[in-house]
This record gives sequence, C-alpha cells and structure tokens, in this order.
Amino acid sequence: MKNPNLVAAFIFSFLASAAFAEIKDFKIAGDSRSLILFEKFGFTSDGAANIAVAEATLSSSVSSADPSLFGFFLHSSSNLLQTLIADDQPQNPNPSPCILSSPYIRLLFTFRDLSPPPFNSYNRTFPIALADDYNLFFANCVPESEVSMSVRTVLYNAQPDGSRDYLPIGEAPVPTVCFLFSLIYVAFLVIWIHFGLIANRSSAHRIHYLMAGLLVAKILNLVFKAEDQHYVRITGTPHGWDVLFYLFQFIKGVLLFTVIVLIGTGWSFLKPFLHGREKKVLMLVIPLQVVTNIASIVIGETGPFIQDWAAWVQIFLLVDVVCCCAILFPIVWSIRSLRETSKSDGKAAKNLSKLVLFRRFYLVVIGYLYFTRVVVFALKTILSYKNKWMSLAVEEGVTLAFYILMFYLFRPKVKNPYLALDDEEEAAAMAVLKEDDFDI
Ligand SMILES: *[C@@H]1O[C@H](CO)[C@@H](O)[C@H](O)[C@H]1NC(C)=O
Repeated sequence: MKNPNLVAAFIFSFLASAAFAEIKDFKIAGDSRSLILFEKFGFTSDGAANIAVAEATLSSSVSSADPSLFGFFLHSSSNLLQTLIADDQPQNPNPSPCILSSPYIRLLFTFRDLSPPPFNSYNRTFPIALADDYNLFFANCVPESEVSMSVRTVLYNAQPDGSRDYLPIGEAPVPTVCFLFSLIYVAFLVIWIHFGLIANRSSAHRIHYLMAGLLVAKILNLVFKAEDQHYVRITGTPHGWDVLFYLFQFIKGVLLFTVIVLIGTGWSFLKPFLHGREKKVLMLVIPLQVVTNIASIVIGETGPFIQDWAAWVQIFLLVDVVCCCAILFPIVWSIRSLRETSKSDGKAAKNLSKLVLFRRFYLVVIGYLYFTRVVVFALKTILSYKNKWMSLAVEEGVTLAFYILMFYLFRPKVKNPYLALDDEEEAAAMAVLKEDDFDI
C-alpha cells in the first residue's frame, strides 16, 4: 500500500468503538491530515446521515487546489479489505489515486458542492439504503494543504413510528441492559446488607462496609449509564447525564481497585494496618485510576476525530494493564506470608483455610481480569455490528459473577469459639501445608 496513513486510518476505524455516535459538532482548524475519521455508526436500511459544513476554508501551497479533492465519504467496514487491496494492485496505472474516486466508498459531497464564498457551507441529509456498519471520513487528497471548517453530523436510524433512534443499531439495547444489571445489583446490595452486615453485625469489619459502598457506586454508575444512553438514543445528546456517569465510573473504579487491594492484604479482617509496600500499591493504583478515567472521558467524548485520539487509547490500555498487575501483588504477598507463618506458629488448620481462601481469591481476580480484558475485547472484534451490545452484556455478566464470588469468599462470618479443632484435623492440615507446592 502506498499510503501508510491510509492503512492506519482504516484499521483504526475497524477497532474504534461506536460509543461516541450521536449529534456532534466538530471544529477543524488548519488540519493537514489526509484522512479524518468522524464517526462510526451501524445503520439500518432506514438510516440517514445529515452533514452540515460551515465556514470551510482551504489553504494550500499549490495556488489553486482543486476543491473536488476534498470531500466527505462513507465507508462500510465490510469493504475494509477490498479498499486496501484495490489501492495496491500492480496493474493500477495511477498508483496513488484519491480515495474519493475509489469504487469501494460512497462519496457524499466534495468542496466543489459548497455554496459560493463567503459562506462556503453545505447542509444535506443522505438516506442510507444498505444496512451496514459505516465510517464517516473526510479525505484531503492535496498534499501540503490545510482545511478549516465546522462540521455538525447527525446520524440516526428512523423507527417504524417515524421517531429517530440516535444510537447505532448494535447499541440500541444498551440502556435496557444497563438498567437490568442495575436492578440485579440493587438486589445484591439488599442481600449483602441484610445477611452480611445486619445478621452478622459482630463479625462485620470496615472492609465489609466499604464493599457495600462499592455496590452503591456500581449501581449509580449503571443507572447513570442507562440514563445517558437513553437520552442519547432518543434525543441525540446526553442532557448532562454523561457527567454523572463519568463521575460514578471514576468512584466505582477507585473503590473496586481499593477493595481488591485491601482484601488482598487482609486489611481489617486479618490485621488492622497496612505494610509500607501495601500502602505503596494503593498510592499507585488510585492516581492511575484518575489517569484511566481522564483517558476514558477523552476517548468517549471526543471520538477518533482528534489528532491524538490513538495516543489516549494507548494511555488507557497501558495504565489499565499496570493497574491489573499491581492489584495482584498484595494477594501474592499475603499467600507467601501465610505460608511462612503456618510452618512456625502451630495453628496449621486455621492457616490452611486462610491460605486456600487467598488462593481462590487470586484465581478469581485473574479470571475476572482475563475475561473482562481479553475475552471481551476478542468478542468485540468478532461480533457483527448489529450485536455489539452483547459484548457489554457479557462483560457485565462476568463482572457480576466476579462481585458475587468476591463478596461470598469474604463475607462476614460468625466465629464459633466452642468449635475447637481436634488434633487429628490439625495434623492433617500440617501435612497438607508441608507438601504444599503451589508456587506464585
Ligand atoms: C441543516 O438543515 C436541517 C433542515 O434540513 C436543519 O434542521 C439543520 O438545523 C441544519 N443544520 C445546520 C447545522 O444548520
């Protein structure tokens, strides 16, 4: 392929998620990129794209650049390979044609169609007859030229009753999915408070109240996401609900990682304090969560049209990986120290059950991170654009299973002082600990 930027932009459009599709205003100032991805949207056959351009100006080193070499086009994701291969054919007499003349795109309009100066504007609605997942691009085929303009895009699918659905076809069930999961978490919270915190009040520690706080943050995060996506769906804009959504996404993220780290250290149910290195993990994870959330706001609110969008996606992924690794250390340290003490302090049976508990927790956390990071990502790339919401449903399902396991493993338990362990059990546990070869 002659133009590596073009390849990058197309592959990028394939990976980009459609979460930012709604009514959007863009300002482009002195931009020299050859290809700008504006939106990604799954249309039904009743879909339509309204694009309005105002105050478009060109500046080029060539005295009069041909305005038909600047334009907007739709590109269906299923044509990705054909488009890339077509440009690479050796028999192609003109090896670097303008993408606007490619047969694999749907050209909407070029700057030749703009109203004459001084307005340089354009406003038209294009019906989409062929249902598919489309990317809306702007192409600039004149090297060393810069474009400035303001653009408003309104992408929607018309409903049978004449109303508009501003969410891509694959995201339309998202508000319902979020709302249903928030109801499940409400039931979860009620059960936790009733059977955990009230029925076992004497053995409920501070960590158990923090876990209840985590459930509240998770519920609010889901409710506000449902509200946000619902308003985007029916009006095209989130009506301010996105602010609450991001706020509680942040609070939930910090609480989740804090709870995993504190449980991993055994804080409040095994010991009342944190060691220096455990505090360091917390001091690392919390600021990293701030960075992750800023990155996720930038990614979600601006979309791939800004120049450093790819950098923000990379920051997000990198910081997330660091956080995921960091939260495993306290669990590993706890397992090691339990193994050390169990050999010396003569309470083998008690230590063995703690050791088993922490190992289970370690596996549960690894499983959770693997499924939500790797499997869900794979699912997102495999699923058809019509079923994108399923990856969210799977992710929330896995997360719910993780919460249930974690809360169950570390629920408040009544200690029975009359239940003394007999010598036989103690000897058996000692033997297990001696043979122990679980190494992490
Ligand atoms: C474009 O035209 C439609 C009516 O056809 C109008 O509702 C819309 O506000 C216009 N967009 C802009 C940005 O002027």
